[in-house]
Amino acid sequence: MSEFLIERMAAGAGAGEAPADVERWTILGEARRNSLTMAMLRELGEHAARAARDRALRVVILTGQGERAFCAGADLKERARMGDGDVAGFHRALRAALGALEALPQPVVAALNGAALGGGLELALACDLRVAAEGIEVGLPEVGLGIIPGGGGTARLPRIVGMGRATELVLTGRRVGMAEAVAMGLVTQAVPAAGLAEAALALAARLARNSPISLRQAKQALRGGWHLPLEGALDLENRLYQPCLPTRDRQEALRAFAERRPPRFTGE
Ligand code: COA
Repeated sequence: MSEFLIERMAAGAGAGEAPADVERWTILGEARRNSLTMAMLRELGEHAARAARDRALRVVILTGQGERAFCAGADLKERARMGDGDVAGFHRALRAALGALEALPQPVVAALNGAALGGGLELALACDLRVAAEGIEVGLPEVGLGIIPGGGGTARLPRIVGMGRATELVLTGRRVGMAEAVAMGLVTQAVPAAGLAEAALALAARLARNSPISLRQAKQALRGGWHLPLEGALDLENRLYQPCLPTRDRQEALRAFAERRPPRFTGE
């Protein structure tokens, strides 16, 4: 049985714009609050590998089934049946799947339909942007469970919200509501639950208006440059800028500007 519902849709054909291919990946595990199983991580890695080769696909939206949880972290029932070696294997699979998601050339939008806790928040942190339903909570409760975040929480959260806030969230393990999550930049937008799918699609459409080459290069510059000293980050940015120059998309943008129309990017 498939662990995800994969839906392909066309987003954002505004005046003069070409519709862009967007995929919504919905975790199909409402009864277990979309918690992370080995099978699901394997399938997530497979979808990421497929998406990485798919040049027509512009944006991925990742969401969960139902309204209670985006993802409740590791599947604690599966975990209870695991030995120490299995747990180590789970963490390798988690790292690989989240790494593959993070490394996608397309932007990935997490649409948080419900709680994102532990590995569930870590899954969302491996996405590029997060939008959420207003009433939900997110957090990294691991220190209250005798462990620490094991899916990149201590590494990715400070890169997104800063070390002070991340330290407070990781060491208290407390859950954060959406007003606070938006204020700290963890979530870019919180909307009423009924409008979440539409808001995620609107954000995907906004992203998909841009050149896919630019999106890929900019994503690499942001992610690769963040931890480098300034000069190294500037060098990296310059290396990633250069391949944009000979592209048809750049010529198309210049023509579209001159002709006062929206550009039609092809990713070439
Ligand atoms: N792994 C496996 N099953 C889980 C789960 C998890 N992480 N989280 C919830 N479930 C299951 C429950 O066991 C329950 O199953 P049952 O119907 O067979 O008893 C079902 O999902 C519903 O759980 P419930 O807690 O009643 O759902 P809720 O909608 O009231 O609350 C959450 C949803 C996500 C807020 C809540 O389940 C929760 O806090 N889960 C634990 C989160 C967590 O600490 N994760 C580990 C981080 S390291």
